[in-house]
Amino acid sequence: MRIDILTLFPEILESPLNYSILKRAKEKGLLQIFLHNIRDYAMNKHKQADDYAFGGGAGMVMMVEPIDLCISRLTAERHYDEILYLTPDGEKFTQRMANYLATKTHIMMLCGHYKGVDQRVRDHFITREVSVGDYVLSGGEIAASVIVDCAGRLIPGVLSDETSALMDSFQDNLLAPPVYTRPASYKGWKVPDVLLSGHATKIDEWRHQQSLERTRKLRPDLLEEEE
Ligand code: ADE
Repeated sequence: MRIDILTLFPEILESPLNYSILKRAKEKGLLQIFLHNIRDYAMNKHKQADDYAFGGGAGMVMMVEPIDLCISRLTAERHYDEILYLTPDGEKFTQRMANYLATKTHIMMLCGHYKGVDQRVRDHFITREVSVGDYVLSGGEIAASVIVDCAGRLIPGVLSDETSALMDSFQDNLLAPPVYTRPASYKGWKVPDVLLSGHATKIDEWRHQQSLERTRKLRPDLLEEEE
C-alpha cells in the first residue's frame, strides 16, 4: 500500500509512522508513506498556503491552489482508491473502515489545519471525510497517524501472526479478553487456572465469555450495533 499525506506540518508525522509494526511493514515493502508539504506548492513568494476567510470571522483557511497543485500532480501519476480529508466533522473512523482501507493500494490523506480547507477542495477532490472522534485536534496530522497506524498493521503480511489481528478488540464488535504472562502467581495474585490447564477448547470458551462480559460492562453499545 502506498499512502501520500498532504500536510502543512510534515514533521508531526515523521516519528509516529517509523516505529514498531509500521517500521517493519515498510521494511518488508508492504507499506510506503510519502509526506508532502503543501507549502512547497504555494505559488507566491511568501509560500503562503492559507488566507483569511471570505465573509470574515476568526481563523485562516487553507487555500485551494496549493492543494490542487499537489493533488493533481499525484493523481496524474496514479489512480487513488480514496482521497481522505481528516476533519472533526467527518464520518467516524472505525475498525471496519481500517479493515476496508487495508485492502487498498493507493490512498491519499489531506490534513486540515486552522479553520479547515477551502470548501472547493472538499467538493472537487475528496472522496471521504473522516474524523477520529468527537473532539477537536489542532490539525489532521495526529488523526492521519491514527488511521495509518490502524490500517497499516492490517495490511496482509504485516503482522507475523495473522490471528493476532483477528483477536483484537472491535474486530467482532467485542472487546479483547484479559491476557496474562509469567509468573503464574505474583504477590499471591493468581492467573486464572483455566489458562494454565492446556485445554484449548476451554481456554477459547473462557476468553469468549470474558470478552462478552467485558463488552457488556464497558461498551454495551457495541453489542447493539449491527454487523
Ligand atoms: N482535525 C481536527 N480534529 C480532528 C478529528 N477529531 N478527526 C480528524 N481530523 C481532525
